[in-house]
Amino acid sequence: MERFNVFEIEMACQIAGQGQPIVLVHGFPLDHEMWQHQIQRLSEHYQVIAPDLRGFGASQRGTAEMTMRQLACDLSELLQQVVGSGQVCFCGLSMGGYIAWEFYRAFKQRVSRLILCDTRAAADDEATARARRMTARSVLKYGMSELAQSMPDRLVSLAWQQSHPKSVQQLRDSIRRASPQSVADGLFGMSIRQDATPLLTTIDCPTLLIVGEHDAISTPDEMNAIATAIGSSRLVSVADAGHLAPIENPQVVNDSICEFLDDKRISA
Ligand code: MLT
Repeated sequence: MERFNVFEIEMACQIAGQGQPIVLVHGFPLDHEMWQHQIQRLSEHYQVIAPDLRGFGASQRGTAEMTMRQLACDLSELLQQVVGSGQVCFCGLSMGGYIAWEFYRAFKQRVSRLILCDTRAAADDEATARARRMTARSVLKYGMSELAQSMPDRLVSLAWQQSHPKSVQQLRDSIRRASPQSVADGLFGMSIRQDATPLLTTIDCPTLLIVGEHDAISTPDEMNAIATAIGSSRLVSVADAGHLAPIENPQVVNDSICEFLDDKRISA
């Protein structure tokens, strides 16, 4: 892991390989390790930049409010130090996708291509925002154990849980390690995020959408609507996967990303 001074924090980031840069932005409440299969495969052909977001993994929390805009600004600062002012392919999963919308809104000129995995464009409705506030209060009071126990059921398909018990345990451990304060702050940041739906029709870079066929959080129907709204996009449905398609079916996700990045018919 390399470390970078970004605003008031030290940010940790794994950088591997050479070539076209691709930044992999993890989901909530995980860290860059969720991309381990992609880092291994993609770094054979590209420069992979896999940061831990503010407050997660080995990155410091700092004092700034944890809004999706702040997390996008952190990444812009980090990328300035890693690739200068050059363009990157921005790939985000779920919360990483919410940050991708903000990154595109603020730093469009830095984006060569977008990859959105298992994410949503709509903002939270009141019931979802309320549920996040309850979860935040619970982790601050009781710690991460309950979320670590319950969350994998929402994140990965039942069949994958049954066939990968060790990986499910790793997922639980990763959630348990997260800092309750950062988790509460991340939940708040997601609950006040802007609706990205109006942005979709303005996106004009090549865009790949990837969704697990059993994703119950960002459903295939919802991602299909996002793909329809973005002009230059394609949607890949990943068999046997839930919300964490890159972990559950890495081969299909890796092949789709490589094919997308190598496709000379689409100019970035
Ligand atoms: C994630 O995977 O980042 C979260 O499920 C996103 C969310 O809770 O909306």
